[in-house]
Amino acid sequence: MNEVKWLDSAVFYEIYPQSFKDSNGDGIGDFNGIIEKLDYIKDLGCTAIWMNPCFDSPFLDAGYDVRDYYKAAPRYGTNDDLKHLFGEVHKRGMHILLDLVPGHTSWEHEWFRQSCKAAPNPYTDRYIWTDNTWEAPEGMNALIGISERVGACGVNFFSHQPALNYGYYRPDKPWQQSMDSPGAKATLEAMKDVMRFWLNAGCDGFRVDMAHSLVKHDEDSKGTIALWQDVRAFLDREFPDAAMVSEWGEPDRSLQGGFHMDFLLHFGPSHYNDLFRCEHPFFGGGGDASEFVKAYTANREKSGGKGLMCIPSGNHDMTRLAKYIHGGRRKIAFAFLLSMPGAPFIYYGDEIGMRYVEGLYSVEGGYERTGSRSPMQWDDTPNAGFGTSPADKLYIPLDQSPDRPTVRSAQADPDSLLNEIKKLTAVRAAHPALQSRGDIEFVYCVKNEYPLAYVRKDGGEAILVILNPSDREVSFPFTEALGKSIYTYGAPAAQANGSVTVKPQTAGWYLI
Ligand code: GLC
Ligand code: CA
Repeated sequence: MNEVKWLDSAVFYEIYPQSFKDSNGDGIGDFNGIIEKLDYIKDLGCTAIWMNPCFDSPFLDAGYDVRDYYKAAPRYGTNDDLKHLFGEVHKRGMHILLDLVPGHTSWEHEWFRQSCKAAPNPYTDRYIWTDNTWEAPEGMNALIGISERVGACGVNFFSHQPALNYGYYRPDKPWQQSMDSPGAKATLEAMKDVMRFWLNAGCDGFRVDMAHSLVKHDEDSKGTIALWQDVRAFLDREFPDAAMVSEWGEPDRSLQGGFHMDFLLHFGPSHYNDLFRCEHPFFGGGGDASEFVKAYTANREKSGGKGLMCIPSGNHDMTRLAKYIHGGRRKIAFAFLLSMPGAPFIYYGDEIGMRYVEGLYSVEGGYERTGSRSPMQWDDTPNAGFGTSPADKLYIPLDQSPDRPTVRSAQADPDSLLNEIKKLTAVRAAHPALQSRGDIEFVYCVKNEYPLAYVRKDGGEAILVILNPSDREVSFPFTEALGKSIYTYGAPAAQANGSVTVKPQTAGWYLI
């Protein structure tokens, strides 16, 4: 498998296209708006972009319900506008991943319309159908009574997202197809065509939605891993430079499947929320990081010590970090995010401490996620500089608080989170030990105690990271001599008698 070199030092910025920048005043963000802000993203120190789905869709799940994989959603622009965006990204030496949703389509997709017909046709087996209208596929929700065809169709997520058929690992019912049945194989080939189309158009790879979910009855993921290995072989042949990042959360499996990196998920067993989003988060100053470190270390060991789990500051599916972590502690949280292995992902707006907007009605299937998807706040002009539409035309209402943060005010304040993140990304860029592939060894992490300390290593370089978001001065045993500090927030650490002491609410990265 080809290594994709730029991933090693990548820092990603996640763009939710509908909420980033509206260039034509219709209330919805668009490709040209993103182009206007590429210099801003680059200046932040981000080298790559993950853009949420931007394809034609009825938008019942914000675009994760694709109606046409080959067509940019008109509200964002044309396919040519999207290619123009790729070009502008590349001109700046950056890269961009599209969001591939291979597990399901919208129920408005032409494949699904054909699949609902009683008369056999090339799409009859494109989705998972039982042979009895009253019997849903085991373990799945289903669409029933919506088709001329006899049968129930399994859904992957919301009811309007019928599950594409990649086969069952161990079929045990007549309607369950094997992975090498013609229908399952045709689905996979169709998805490769989609990838081919956008890679030829100039994107650099994909973030893959629910990558673990494709083959059914596949508890150990053996079938799904084999499926992705097939995709990997195709990419190695035709697009060896394409980068693949999975939403899977099990790097031992996803990396075997040929993904370069996997996301650390905020749900499941990761304990990510212990750090950022719970009643007493570790970075809030009164929580515990030890369960997170345990789960993280176990995952790393399972994947052969490869540091390729991407930790996000947030994303379009979770509450914003700013809800739980306040003031200078946000800087300490970013000193963590930007010194961990795997590529860090900064969710748009987190760099200025954008808030979770409470009390919104659900927009386009957002439900409680809607409050994390509000328009980006650029400046003090109307609509916070997001766009010139009437306020009631905005895709999602803006944060109405009079003191809402903006990019312009953050840029003007030397002590802002934004300016701190710029320092952090610059130092990360200069030190391979801090980047994706560098080793990590936790040197101090005790239940309910502070600080958290770990050493990052690559080649001859070793860097000690110390994070103390608590209000206490704390110490931990450490005998190696601390060298030059390459980043500090607050007072620097002091070393005496085999231990290191750090002041309350400080962070530091030290050469050792
Ligand atoms: C992923 C996406 C989420 C979407 C779901 C269904 O988890 O991140 O936003 O609703 O998949 O596609
Ligand atoms: Ca627009």
